[in-house]
Amino acid sequence: MAPKFCIFKVIAITFSIFPTVIPVTNFSFPAIFNFGDSNSDTGGLAAGFAFPVGPPNGQTYFLKPSGRFSDGRLIIDFLMDAMDLPFLNPYLDSVGAPNFQTGCNFATGGSTILPANAASTSPFSLGIQVAQFLKFKARALELLDKDKRLQKYLPSEKSFKQALYMFDVGQNDLDGAFYSKSEDQVLALIQTFLTEFETSFKKLYDVGARKFWIHNTGPLGCLPRIIAKFGTDTTKLDQFGCVNSHNRAANQFNMQLHDLCTKFRAQLPDANITYVDIFSIKLNLISNYSQYGFKQPLAACCGYGGPPLNFDSRIACGETKNLNGSMVTATPCNNTAEYVNWDGNHYTEAANEYVSSQILTGNYSDPPPSVTAESLLGSKFFDPRRLY
Ligand SMILES: *[C@@H]1O[C@H](CO)[C@@H](O)[C@H](O)[C@H]1NC(C)=O
Ligand SMILES: *[C@@H]1O[C@H](CO)[C@@H](O)[C@H](O)[C@H]1NC(C)=O
Ligand SMILES: *[C@@H]1O[C@H](CO)[C@@H](O)[C@H](O)[C@H]1NC(C)=O
Ligand SMILES: *[C@@H]1O[C@H](CO)[C@@H](O)[C@H](O)[C@H]1NC(C)=O
Ligand SMILES: *[C@@H]1O[C@H](CO)[C@@H](O)[C@H](O)[C@H]1NC(C)=O
Ligand SMILES: *[C@@H]1O[C@H](CO)[C@@H](O)[C@H](O)[C@H]1NC(C)=O
Repeated sequence: MAPKFCIFKVIAITFSIFPTVIPVTNFSFPAIFNFGDSNSDTGGLAAGFAFPVGPPNGQTYFLKPSGRFSDGRLIIDFLMDAMDLPFLNPYLDSVGAPNFQTGCNFATGGSTILPANAASTSPFSLGIQVAQFLKFKARALELLDKDKRLQKYLPSEKSFKQALYMFDVGQNDLDGAFYSKSEDQVLALIQTFLTEFETSFKKLYDVGARKFWIHNTGPLGCLPRIIAKFGTDTTKLDQFGCVNSHNRAANQFNMQLHDLCTKFRAQLPDANITYVDIFSIKLNLISNYSQYGFKQPLAACCGYGGPPLNFDSRIACGETKNLNGSMVTATPCNNTAEYVNWDGNHYTEAANEYVSSQILTGNYSDPPPSVTAESLLGSKFFDPRRLY
């Protein structure tokens, strides 16, 4: 594992188009535990459910499918890099002697906050992911107690205590609800989502988690799949071409999530809870894309159907299918770095890199990161502006 990772790093540095700048965010976490959906799934659904995440996924960075729904790295990968930690192994991936010393990823594509049902893509809802974490922690500590040599592979009790616990979840709850419910009904459900989120959060707190980083949900209404399905009537679109109802619901979810974070801080004064405004970063990227070096804010890079969205719900990225009697393939675009969207549902590596760089400015964090002299030392990162 380790040598392979080093090769990736060399490639990344050699070909990076981003000059090095310093993040203002101070990172000194011994481990990261992440919970969520495909936005931060580093191979969980592919491993745990044998979900096909075939080529061209991974083509830009890993040069082969990596279990990630993207042509390359996800936001979480860039964040791990900025923290000088290796990419997170999925909890469910047992092959290849995965190392969990510096963290573990419980996120799986399709996951919801609410418990899964028969129609769910992933059975691993947030409650299950937290239960997996509890099992992981108990098992790791039990094994370490028996054999200290396992410290090379498993987080210590101290690491669990000082770790950063990250969340990026909720998108699929909103997304799924819109397929059978009106906007008002979806808005009314948000409290139910967040009550369940609170339960999961508290379970982690109760076993000693203290540092939390909660990503809010992105502009759901700007995904090509959503626009193709819900945006055929252009009066339903906003000035950027995104579906109003879905972005309103995402905003409402985020406001209530923000309130929940405020409540947590009041109830749990010994916890550090950072709320990160991913919605604003992504919407800014989509609306001001050319400023950041992109040419396509909404069209899927890898899809079928051509402009404006290059998305057809009948055929997924990489698939070849018979549509109306002719064989067609959903192929990737030639320059993925010009596209914000990868496959109609997920972002390209280039977009993820931009979003990560914005997260690391600290400008979208609440509370803002404290800037000290030490925090500016020894870290590397890239400039959000793309200088071609
Ligand atoms: C930043 O990290 C360093 C190294 O662990 C630590 O000594 C310092 O207190 C941290 N600063 C802040 C503001 O958290
Ligand atoms: C974390 O929370 C504690 C308790 O509220 C506070 O004293 C400390 O400054 C916080 N640390 C950071 C880095 O925000
Ligand atoms: C786009 O950029 C302009 C100018 O920097 C800024 O005022 C605006 O808020 C940005 N749009 C979004 C949606 O963030
Ligand atoms: C198949 O037929 C439908 C309905 O007539 C049409 O909208 C679609 O573009 C056709 N697809 C292909 C691949 O020809
Ligand atoms: C990519 O470029 C090749 C060669 O210029 C062209 O034939 C092909 O149609 C392009 N593919 C896409 C998806 O634009
Ligand atoms: C953070 O936001 C402020 C105010 O909008 C801006 O002046 C500053 O350049 C931003 N910082 C970074 C690192 O982008």
